[in-house]
Amino acid sequence: MTRTTPRKLAAGNWKMNGSMAALDEARAVAAAVPDGIDALLCPPATLIGPMAAAVEGTALSVGGQACHAAASGAHTGDLSAEMLGEAGARYVLCGHSERRTDHEETDDMVRDHVAATWRAGLVAVLCIGETLAQRDAGHTLAVLGEQLVGSLPEGATPDNLVIAYEPVWAIGTGRVAEPAQVAEVHDDLRARLGDIFGDAGAGFALLYGGSVKASNAPDLFALANVDGALVGGASLKATDFVPIMEALAAS
Ligand code: 13P
Repeated sequence: MTRTTPRKLAAGNWKMNGSMAALDEARAVAAAVPDGIDALLCPPATLIGPMAAAVEGTALSVGGQACHAAASGAHTGDLSAEMLGEAGARYVLCGHSERRTDHEETDDMVRDHVAATWRAGLVAVLCIGETLAQRDAGHTLAVLGEQLVGSLPEGATPDNLVIAYEPVWAIGTGRVAEPAQVAEVHDDLRARLGDIFGDAGAGFALLYGGSVKASNAPDLFALANVDGALVGGASLKATDFVPIMEALAAS
């Protein structure tokens, strides 16, 4: 049965932060995952294996931050989704704006990364977001619609895909999007998913990301089509992330 009610997901993206010593933070998060939500931390790839071992048997999942499109081959320095999965990842972030910028990832490339994630049996967290210039020009919904359609292979289901709306101007800036701005985007995304997937469109989890912290999380989670968050800076410390998980469980 395809789910028509989204799961709630509190996801953390450690980006290029963390070390073996930081696994204590993951242990503390794992010990505090509330009932009724899914929780995920995406550490740097070197920590996926150790983190998966540290939180084995708990409700906390581990994910990768990016993958190559191929399963193996002559791609020095890259990692396949299969490798991330073997290390203990259950999810892969695809198309994060920092990858789109730093590594010039295009929608076509992101679509291949999502497909690779599925090939490895993992869940893709597809990240989309507009720049401030695009928002100021009034192009937000059009840009996001293009990214969504352009980055999605055939075969998406609410079980293999989570969508994260991360406005580029709100990432790492301390400038969280206003609830009304988030609601406008998430309502539009939900409608688009309905157009594409019919009834199943209601089942995809839609995360918001961009300067989420415990103080602004409740207002975001109160919105009808916000099913969780993708958290950067505030996912590095359990004392910051656990209250976000609790706010999601209470929403
Ligand atoms: P911040 O929460 O640090 O703004 O980062 C958001 C993000 O990019 C998560 O993927």
